[in-house]
Parts: sequence; structure tokens; C-alpha cells
Amino acid sequence: MKNTVATFAAAKADGNKIAMLTAYDYSMARLVDQSGVDAILVGDSLGMVMLGYEDTVSVTMEDMVHHTRAVARGAAKSMVVADLPFLSYHVSVPQAVANAGRLLKEGRAQAVKLEGGIPLAPQIRAIVDASIPVMGHIGLTPQSVNAFGGFKVQGRDVAAIRRLLDDAKAVEDAGAFAVVVECVPEKVAERITASLSIPTIGIGAGPACDGQVLVYQDMLGMFEGFASKFVKRFGEAGELMRAAFAAYVAEVRGGTFPGPEHGFSISEDVLREIGD
Ligand code: KIV
Repeated sequence: MKNTVATFAAAKADGNKIAMLTAYDYSMARLVDQSGVDAILVGDSLGMVMLGYEDTVSVTMEDMVHHTRAVARGAAKSMVVADLPFLSYHVSVPQAVANAGRLLKEGRAQAVKLEGGIPLAPQIRAIVDASIPVMGHIGLTPQSVNAFGGFKVQGRDVAAIRRLLDDAKAVEDAGAFAVVVECVPEKVAERITASLSIPTIGIGAGPACDGQVLVYQDMLGMFEGFASKFVKRFGEAGELMRAAFAAYVAEVRGGTFPGPEHGFSISEDVLREIGD
């Protein structure tokens, strides 16, 4: 049985932690799915880790639909959540519903994620009313990098903490089934988590959140853009891949690859007949 919004609700009720990872294509979705994660996020972080942009601002609906469709084909058990990209839900409520619908109808996601608190509550409510589950995202919301003046820890003073608590409540009240809390002090995330009946999914927000999410390239050492303090390296796939690629290049140049075991044979009779 595939995980759903009910999996998230049950995890919060039972006190079980939710594990989420990103994926952006079919083969990686299969590998991530086989790890037993609860959900796969097709994050707009793909703009940085897959497409090489310096932030997520340029990611389009077409990018998201394309990658979501590939991930959905590879996710047998995990729930697939897809990001609504920058300006695909800000212009109007109908625009938000239509674009959320595309991620389900064309991308085959089971839920969408969007960034923002109180100002985005009407969009969240309308998308949920269209039977599309919404995951909120508060704290450091990367699509607002230009407004923030950089990727900075959020919720460090009293006013900012109060705003975050209000944003979290607004997202919950609007009908979201979960909320990502990014880059806020641990004690603030703890308060947000205790104040909500929906699960919080932390990234750079400490262990008190109901679940965690990481970008797979970060936790596998595959992305050299920048290393956030909150990222733990769970493997050195980048190093492994570089070494394997270099070994391939050396063997091709040295003539040792391909070997006889990698080729296809033909009978001597056939060779004789074509006049070898
Ligand atoms: O785009 C993304 O990958 C995200 C996570 C960092 C939460 O939004």
C-alpha cells in the first residue's frame, strides 16, 4: 500500500518520526523508495542540484511537471510530494489551484508543497478544497531568497518567533496536512511542533520536529554548491562516483575496457563466410 496523508497523520498520533528525502528522476526515486522513506519530495531544489541555478527562483511549472512524472513512476510505496515553484501560486488563488492540479494530473504527485504562512492561507485553503493535499513550508523559504537578502536562519528574535508561530497555525488552519520548517533554532521548531496537530518536517530545525527531510545530493556528498551546517553526510557517493568515472576513463584509454566478458561472440563459420 502506498503512503498517503493518512500515513503522516498516523505518524504524528503515534509519535513515530517521518523520514523524507528528495528525488528528481526515476532511477533515484526507485533507490530512495527502496530505503523505506515515508515520502519523496520533488523539491524545487532541483533548480540548484539538477539544473545548476544559484537559487530556486527560475524553476518553472514545466520543470516540476517533468521531474515529478519521472519520480512518480519510480515511487512504489513512498508518497510523492511536488513543489509548486516560485510565482506559480502567488498571482491568484485560481492560478494556485490550476498549477497544483497540474502536478497531480500530469505529474502524478499525491500532494503539493508551497512556501509561506499567513499571506498564502487563501491559496492553501482553495487547493485543499480542490481535494489536493498541501504541505506548507515556513521559516527559511528559499523562493524568498531575494526578500530575505540571502539564505539565513529565521526566527531569532521575539517578533520573528511570534510570526513563525502564527504562520504555522495559519497553514494548519487552512487545511495543510504537514508543514516543512526550515532553518530555525531548535527551540523554536520545538514550540511550533508542540503547537500543531499536523506533523512538522524539519530541515535545519533540530530533532523535535515530527520528521526530517534532506536533499539527497547534500547527504551523499554529491553537490559542491555550499554545505549547510544542518546537513549530515550519510555517504560519500560523490567521491565514489568520481573514482568510478576516473577508473573508467583510465581503462578506456589503457585499452582494458571493454574486456572479452563485455562483448558478444560470433561463430567462426559466420566469420569465414563473410571472408574474414
Ligand atoms: O526544494 C526542496 O528540496 C525543499 C526542501 C529543502 C525542504 O523545499
